Amino acid sequence: MADLDYKKISGGLFVSFEGIDYCGKSTQVRLLSSTLLREGYGVVVVREPGGTEISEKIRDILLDTANKRLSAEAELLLYEASRAQLTRELIIPGKQAGKVVLSDRYFDSSTAYQGYGRGLDIESIKKMNLVASAGIKPDVTFLFDLPAETAQARFSSVPLFKDRLEEEKIDFHRRVRNGFLEIAKSEPKRFKIIPAEDDIDSISERICSEIQTLL
Ligand code: TYD
Repeated sequence: MADLDYKKISGGLFVSFEGIDYCGKSTQVRLLSSTLLREGYGVVVVREPGGTEISEKIRDILLDTANKRLSAEAELLLYEASRAQLTRELIIPGKQAGKVVLSDRYFDSSTAYQGYGRGLDIESIKKMNLVASAGIKPDVTFLFDLPAETAQARFSSVPLFKDRLEEEKIDFHRRVRNGFLEIAKSEPKRFKIIPAEDDIDSISERICSEIQTLL
């Protein structure tokens, strides 16, 4: 299908996927993207941190295990910088073109990781989120909820290199999980909580049917 032939949605649709590390959200982003493309929608898939040439360079700094001295404040500002670039370069243009924008993490991750996880001031983070996102918000956010212990068992079974955040202790991941649940509680209309221990196919069906109601 030629690029201009896709089914357009007025104002676009912006969907974010959140949760602790190893919650399985990236698989679901891929599945939803394939379904929407098959149905003829225009789709933009992005990830945070990263997603643009500049943001990917910032991602390298953030996840590099050599950067043990990175302060919590510098970390927050780098995530926001990556987001500011991604929002202007891809998310806003994608929405304006009437596409579905799927973002693997967005500003709720800063509130959960840097706020609840690192202990930085939540209200200040929300203000920075607003600057970085140019005031746009996901229309819907899927929160993949999973106990930190289960996530840790998943990543201990993968003998891969761990990034700087994944190296954090279990208590950090517990605080992040609780943070996400608190954020979801404060915005029940935007958030859909997905029990991330369910099987891949049933999660995918649930997400597709939620999205159908918004198209
Ligand atoms: P990534 O490898 O993309 O992990 P995942 O597949 O779990 O999304 O690494 C991103 C890491 O950055 C992840 O540990 C979450 C963290 N993060 C923050 O701490 N703050 C943020 O604002 C964002 C977007 C991510």
